[in-house]
Amino acid sequence: MRFVLLIGGFLFDQPYTSRVELFRRYRDLILKLSGRHKFCIVTGGGSLARESIKLLDSFGVRPTIKDEIGIMVTVLNASILTYILQPKAVYIDLSRLDDVIHHIESGRIVVTGGFSPGQSTDAVAALLSELIGAEILIKATDVDGLYSTDPRIDKSAVKIDNISVDELIRLLSKQNFSPGTYEAFDLVAAKILKRSGIPCRIVDGRNVENVLYAIEGKEVGTLIFSSGLKGGQACGGERFR
Ligand code: UTP
Repeated sequence: MRFVLLIGGFLFDQPYTSRVELFRRYRDLILKLSGRHKFCIVTGGGSLARESIKLLDSFGVRPTIKDEIGIMVTVLNASILTYILQPKAVYIDLSRLDDVIHHIESGRIVVTGGFSPGQSTDAVAALLSELIGAEILIKATDVDGLYSTDPRIDKSAVKIDNISVDELIRLLSKQNFSPGTYEAFDLVAAKILKRSGIPCRIVDGRNVENVLYAIEGKEVGTLIFSSGLKGGQACGGERFR
């Protein structure tokens, strides 16, 4: 099976002891999967990216530059993960798209971060999914799926189990769009998923088993499906995290 795994910045934000433990679990799972599947991994920027963007914001720095700093943090995180996954993984700068295919076909795990301002790593993961012909994009994050509102702030937030990509695009179009805040899901990513017909499952990556369940096609987190590909009823709220 071919897939892309997006690991949000939450992995790098854990308190030190649990961070080491979670990295071990991810390393073990990823190396186990690499024997059976062809896949790429994209890493998010987490709090270091958000805090750096916030600092620059206080000095009136323009959005493009803030995105560029966010990208640097995602690249730093991707490089760290690549070293942890040696010798199986290779870090690829996405200006070398041909290399992605080459490495994937030769059985290596391609790891990367962000590459273009005006989007988040959701979009990178969606583009990579399209490039390698992935069957699914799995987004591992620190929430167990999409919610009607931010469940970390709003206790009445309702979880969305299935949503069509068209409905998602409609909801995302009403959302904030600025560096460090491509929060629930990135509109650019949703549009790429739509044009390529690739589904995405958003899971709680604090438990690595959820990533495995998503690969096995189990019903965890939230499924974003291409309209017409899944019979399930989409149930989006008017706003969501
Ligand atoms: P993230 O993908 O981690 O952003 O990239 P996010 O979705 O805002 O953060 P999480 O999921 O809550 O951790 C960090 C920042 O890097 C820039 C954006 O500003 C983004 O918010 N970035 C990332 C880009 O401009 N382009 C990219 O391709 C990737």
